[in-house]
Amino acid sequence: MAAAAGQLAEHNNKRDAQQAELAEGEGEDGGHGVITPLEHLHAHGFTAKGLTCLKEAGYATIEAVAYASSRQLQQVKGISEQKVAKLKEAVKGLVHMGFSSATEINLMRQQIVRLHTGAADLDALLGGGMETGMLTEVFGEFRSGKTQLCHTLAVTAQLPVEQGGAEGRVAWIDSEGTFRPERITKIAEGFGLDAEQVLENITYARAYNVEHQTELLVQAAALMIETRFALLIVDSVTALYRSEYQGRGQLADRQGHLCQFLRKLQRMADEFGVAVVYTNQVVATVDPMAVFRGGEDKKPIGGHIMAHASQTRLYLRKGKGQNRVAKIYDSPSMPDNIDAKFAITDEGVTKEIKDKDNKQQKKKNDDE
Ligand SMILES: Nc1ncnc2c1ncn2[C@@H]1O[C@H](COP(=O)(O)OP(=O)(O)O)[C@@H](O)[C@H]1O
Ligand SMILES: [Mg+2]
Repeated sequence: MAAAAGQLAEHNNKRDAQQAELAEGEGEDGGHGVITPLEHLHAHGFTAKGLTCLKEAGYATIEAVAYASSRQLQQVKGISEQKVAKLKEAVKGLVHMGFSSATEINLMRQQIVRLHTGAADLDALLGGGMETGMLTEVFGEFRSGKTQLCHTLAVTAQLPVEQGGAEGRVAWIDSEGTFRPERITKIAEGFGLDAEQVLENITYARAYNVEHQTELLVQAAALMIETRFALLIVDSVTALYRSEYQGRGQLADRQGHLCQFLRKLQRMADEFGVAVVYTNQVVATVDPMAVFRGGEDKKPIGGHIMAHASQTRLYLRKGKGQNRVAKIYDSPSMPDNIDAKFAITDEGVTKEIKDKDNKQQKKKNDDE
């Protein structure tokens, strides 16, 4: 692990160097995954006070300002309409937001780092692992393995790239109180990592209400400017919405707020290149069309807003014993009729346990 920790430090140094270079005015074109601190705007006549207003509203980098619409920026307290126009003008030359050739896009996609999930079959289902810079929704019923998958990713995200990681820190927003450091320790040991170091690289916050959950994203964004993060987990994204907004009468409000939250997640994925993984629950559906989806009688909550927010929707369900079955629900590039099996063990997500292994395990237990 010392090597991985060292690489993490080296990575942070590289980022610092990158930022220093940008601050000196070289390499003006930010490019994907490179972040530019807001302070860069001082050179364009923006005061520290104005920048503080932006930061408090969750716009921590020049990219965040560039990707926001004028209408969104006008909602920031202390930023006038005139200022917004000035801001937009200033960031225009700093962040590339125009067309690129498909060849360039192809190259960029090939360079996307994907996080190992713990099971090769599940990685393959996801096209090589959990994509960084993208949003992945993991949904399924209670005990289907959503939180265990998050625990495993929180460890693998820290591995060197060659081993399926992204050499970065992890931010974990927990709305259900189910994060368990002792699980991280076990999983880290399974990967031969120094568990203490792995825990140190995970920054955790419990979210107590919807407003607080949103505030935590702002705090996470501020941390991501300081050091390199590889993964942001929100487990679960919807639990607090379900308890705070009840009944049909509050549905429109709930969806509006959830939409804002999910947009903030997307902004962080774009800005910092982190993999954003969030979990969601399911409800029973009485949809007669369900039969055409392979007879599934469960659907994720959150409606259309949730459905369109992520690049990948992963559906987990229980299999035999410790095994679980994953399926892609919606993906721009992956077929949605293939299953991947995996298991949940003491070492987190691992490859499927075959019947033969189960029998051997049972025999071992009986013998003892
Ligand atoms: N240390 C462990 N070894 C084996 N299985 C475990 C361990 N810890 C949790 N599990 C299993 O993980 C499942 C719970 O998964 P979890 O990810 O918490 O579900 P969800 O978040 O989808 O509700 C349970 O079936 C539990 O038995
Ligand atoms: Mg859970």
